[in-house]
Order: sequence, then structure tokens, then C-alpha cells
Amino acid sequence: MFSFKVDHEIEIGLLQQQHKEELFQLIDDNREHLRKWLLWVDKRKSVQDFETIIPLWITNYANNNGFDAGIRYKGTLVGMVGLHFIDWKNKTTSIGYFISEDVQGKGIVTRSVKALANYLFDEMNLNRIEVEVAVNNRKSMAIPERLGFVREGIKRDGQWLYDHYEDLILFSLLKRDWKQKSVD
Ligand SMILES: CC(C)(COP(=O)(O)OP(=O)(O)OC[C@H]1O[C@@H](n2cnc3c(N)ncnc32)[C@H](O)[C@@H]1OP(=O)(O)O)[C@@H](O)C(=O)NCCC(=O)NCCS
Repeated sequence: MFSFKVDHEIEIGLLQQQHKEELFQLIDDNREHLRKWLLWVDKRKSVQDFETIIPLWITNYANNNGFDAGIRYKGTLVGMVGLHFIDWKNKTTSIGYFISEDVQGKGIVTRSVKALANYLFDEMNLNRIEVEVAVNNRKSMAIPERLGFVREGIKRDGQWLYDHYEDLILFSLLKRDWKQKSVD
């Protein structure tokens, strides 16, 4: 089962049925914070909504087509990180993430994505990682920027958000850039 330690404070692990209550609580406590950028938040209104979605996440993982994992900070579930899909033909994936409002500013997501990049390149042998961020989502944008992702361009009207489209910035990181960076 997918799970690993990022460092002495952070762990990433696959989310399963036994986590549905704490996951619901995390989302429910952070609705206003998360719904600004994540359209799915309004659709997850109860623990039962997670009971329905978690098997789909597990199937995705079993099919080797990505995963949805919890981020634990000092043992508490504080966020999620996952792969939206894996394009095996082109060895490419796309990462998404969020974290609880009250633990922002500690580098939890940056550290998690950094460890995940190592895992994706070294263990899963992928070649390219993408992150897509709305042009106005400054906090999110800072994460790929901090990790040396390359800003490739804009996907115009790339995300529907309630009543308007947002342009998305497409960031990418290649295995060769990452390896080069690690030895610099
Ligand atoms: C986007 C989001 C994950 C960013 O959270 P965050 O806490 O800013 O990100 P990190 O956990 O990487 O923390 C970075 C901050 O910690 C600081 N930090 C402290 N220790 C650090 C460390 N060891 N490594 C890196 N950064 C560290 C950084 O300086 C930065 O602080 P700043 O915001 O004052 O510049 C969060 O705001 C969120 O969940 N938003 C709502 C959902 C969302 O937008 N998801 C993304 C959709 S694309």
C-alpha cells in the first residue's frame, strides 16, 4: 500500500474507508478556504460522500492510474496530495494538493511534493510531472516555483470555477532537470 515518511514530521499515505470520518472533518473545517480553488468541495457534504468516492480512489490506485493520499503532520491528517492520472506511454503525471488553513506556512506541501517527486522519478520511473495552477492562486503557484518546476505557459480558460473560467499556468518538472538540480 502506498505510504511513506517525508521527514520526521510528515507522512503521506493512501486514503481508505477507515479514514472517511477524519477526511470529512478536515474538509468540513476548511470549506471556505478550500472551495475558493477546488470545485469538488461543495459536492462532499457528508461522511457518506467520502464512503462513495474512496472506492473510486482505490480502484484508480489498483489500476496504476494515480492515487489520492493523505498528508499527516505530526500524526494528524492535515491535507491531501495525489496524482490525477498516470500517462504510462509518456511517463507523465499531474499532481494536485491542498492543506488545512491553520497549518499553512510551514512548508508541509512543498516538502511533500519534493519527496513525492523523488519517489515518482526514482521508484516509479516517470519522466515528467505537471502541476496546473490558476493564475490568481499565488500560494499554490509558489510551490512548483520553489521546487524549480518550469513555467511552460497558460491554458486559457483551463478551469471552470462556479461562474467563470480561470486561466491555468502549466508547470512541469522533468527527471533530467531534477537530477541535475540534486547534484548542483
Ligand atoms: C496552496 C496551498 C497548498 C499552499 O499552502 P502553503 O502552506 O503556502 O504551502 P507550503 O506547505 O508549501 O508552505 C509554504 C510556506 O511555508 C514556508 N516554509 C516554512 N518552512 C518551509 C520549508 N521547510 N520548506 C518550504 N517552505 C517552508 C514558506 O516560506 C512558505 O511561506 P509563505 O507562504 O509565508 O511564503 C494552500 O494554500 C491550500 O491548500 N490552498 C487551497 C487549495 C488549493 O489552492 N490547492 C491547490 C490547487 S492548484
